[in-house]
Amino acid sequence: MAVQANQHLIIHNGHGMVLDPGGHKVYAKVCGAVIEQLKGGELKYIFFSHQDPDCIAACNGWLMTTDADAYISALWTRFVPHFGLDDLVFNRLKGIPDEGMILDLNGAPLVLLPAHYMHSEGNFQVYDPTSKILYTGDLGASLARTTGGSRFRPASPVHRGLHRRYMVSGKVLKAGPAW
Ligand SMILES: [Fe+2]
Repeated sequence: MAVQANQHLIIHNGHGMVLDPGGHKVYAKVCGAVIEQLKGGELKYIFFSHQDPDCIAACNGWLMTTDADAYISALWTRFVPHFGLDDLVFNRLKGIPDEGMILDLNGAPLVLLPAHYMHSEGNFQVYDPTSKILYTGDLGASLARTTGGSRFRPASPVHRGLHRRYMVSGKVLKAGPAW
């Protein structure tokens, strides 16, 4: 059974950013839902918080079927072609510098915040000052097998193991944007 993954879409004035759109199994459904939600608008950005396949495996499809630019940590851009990225679209895969950056979504600033070593050495989160939502990606996750999804309770035993393995230390968590 594949890791459960959540996809998100931010739309502002007809422009969209899809966040961690996922792999091949969900590509057609997510792509269809994004087109439907955009209501004739344009997908401008594809955001990859990190390099895990449940976030990024369908990157080639997204870049081939849209005009959007994709963003991932500069640390990972040279590895992404191993997911089958065509040369034709490689120049639309942009590296996020370690210190982060701001993307303009048709007038709405979206802040790509460094969250390194909180799940991956090159990891970013997105803060949307308009909705005041911080998209934390895989900061809180569980590898426990569940039938109906797992509610996020960081202190619960099913979450503890993954966080001990994937997060370097409490120090990086306290230095990060989420707390
Ligand atoms: Fe991940």
